[in-house]
Amino acid sequence: MSTSKLQIKNIDPLKISNICCIGAGYVGGPTMAVLANYCPNIKINVVDINSERIDKWNGELNELPIFEPGLDLIIKSVRKRNLFFSTDLRGSIKSADMIFISVNTPIKTKGIGAGQASDLSWVESSARQISKFAKGHTIVVEKSTLPVKTAEIIQSILGSYEDLDDEKTEKKTFSVISNPEFLAEGTAIENLKFPDRVLIGGEDQFAVDALKNIYLNWVKEEKIITTNLWSSELSKLIANAFLAQRISSINAVSMICESTGANIKEVSKAVGTDSRIGDKFLDSGPGFGGSCFKKDILNLVYICRSFSLNEVADYWEGVLLINDWQQERVYKTIVKKLYGNLNEKKILILGFAFKANTNDTRNSPSIDICNNLIKEGASLVINDPKVSEKEVFHSLNIYNLKKEQKNITFEKDIVQAANKADAIVILTDWEQYKNLNWEQIYKIMRKPAWVFDTRRVLSIETLKELKLNVWQLGNGSND
Ligand code: UDX
Ligand code: UDX
Repeated sequence: MSTSKLQIKNIDPLKISNICCIGAGYVGGPTMAVLANYCPNIKINVVDINSERIDKWNGELNELPIFEPGLDLIIKSVRKRNLFFSTDLRGSIKSADMIFISVNTPIKTKGIGAGQASDLSWVESSARQISKFAKGHTIVVEKSTLPVKTAEIIQSILGSYEDLDDEKTEKKTFSVISNPEFLAEGTAIENLKFPDRVLIGGEDQFAVDALKNIYLNWVKEEKIITTNLWSSELSKLIANAFLAQRISSINAVSMICESTGANIKEVSKAVGTDSRIGDKFLDSGPGFGGSCFKKDILNLVYICRSFSLNEVADYWEGVLLINDWQQERVYKTIVKKLYGNLNEKKILILGFAFKANTNDTRNSPSIDICNNLIKEGASLVINDPKVSEKEVFHSLNIYNLKKEQKNITFEKDIVQAANKADAIVILTDWEQYKNLNWEQIYKIMRKPAWVFDTRRVLSIETLKELKLNVWQLGNGSND
């Protein structure tokens, strides 16, 4: 969009009074709640095509569609004050000065780039709706993580409004800027309140300043980084790729520890105390999950290959290969320790969310590990403090399994679930799994009983006193 068009409209960057956010998911919901909290004078409409999800956002505080520590309290204070959830896309777009696109961008399942490139259909349809219903000048903010140059697509659709708009009323103008979100699930509210940085990319200084002024309500100016559009889009992909790379690095080392007698906990500490390396994101585990890492790296690989940067693409692809391998080796270890046979064996899975403090199961390592155990003939009992039975069954695609593979149950009571179990596998680092009554649990398990601790949350010495067989990921003193 040209700057002259913007100046004609004379937008005052300080006067954003109405915001619309398309997509009431893990990103859109918490982000807008925190924004509403710090900007009581801005009215925010969060819209979603999923009416069931919207009903939940408007419903009981303990049944919000997503679980995030602290989210319920914020929602309580801002909902219906200046934060509104609805399916009224048309009305919300019409009245907005600024619109955040926060819809999901899954990996394409067919056509060119299938399995790697992002499916931008939701972003495209959001842009079409904005183009159709917006009035006057509108700032469009890319919030979803997107492939580099997506802003160009959005700009092109918005620029075609004259052809798309049925009403053909007044002249409209748009500015597209990028403002990727760096929140991590489970700590979303803290991350949004106290961000390491806020990144805003764009060529239109009016639009960039308008968004910057909103953040200045609670974020210090030196933490707000402004860049060009493409740097902003690329930085988000690269930040996620770096984080994922650290996890694959430490997971690769976890196997070296098991082979050599070293202990990954000690190695992580020794390595992470070097201030140049830092101690964060050095926890080895069953592999990373979540909605972003895999998708963003696949995207990066796709971009690299499209520029014939094959060596660079191979490098990043290695991060995903190690992640798949780590998940696979966890399941193979379980089979091996249980004498290579899981038929007639009961395994209790502790944790189905991809990490603690979220009810999100997208790309959770639990999914592939459970599926492989099911294929081996195990009967599974699954426990998770926040993921619902419905979500577990849906993620495992239970309704399409063969009859003999449907031996899966969900159980909230861990002791009940452990009854006659041959093995317990800890897959998510929930706090409540750290202090279980192992004496009581061991008594009711079938012997020989095994515990597989992929998150290294247990004290191995205490458990061994009980004659419980323990395998701990990355621990070189495993039997
Ligand atoms: C995240 C990030 O925003 C994004 O960067 C990443 O690329 C994918 O995942 P998230 O909020 O976690 O998005 O996704 P999700 O919880 O699935 O929420 C997206 C919401 O958008 C859904 O509720 C969906 O119903 C809604 N949606 C999707 C619309 O309202 N309109 C559409 O056209 C498409
Ligand atoms: C990530 C990024 O951290 C965030 O900045 C971005 O906006 C979205 O993607 P998220 O996926 O919500 O956030 O959670 P994160 O804490 O990054 O964990 C991702 C996965 O890595 C989880 O499965 C987690 O268990 C795993 N992980 C994380 C490890 O295995 N070891 C670690 O040291 C850290």
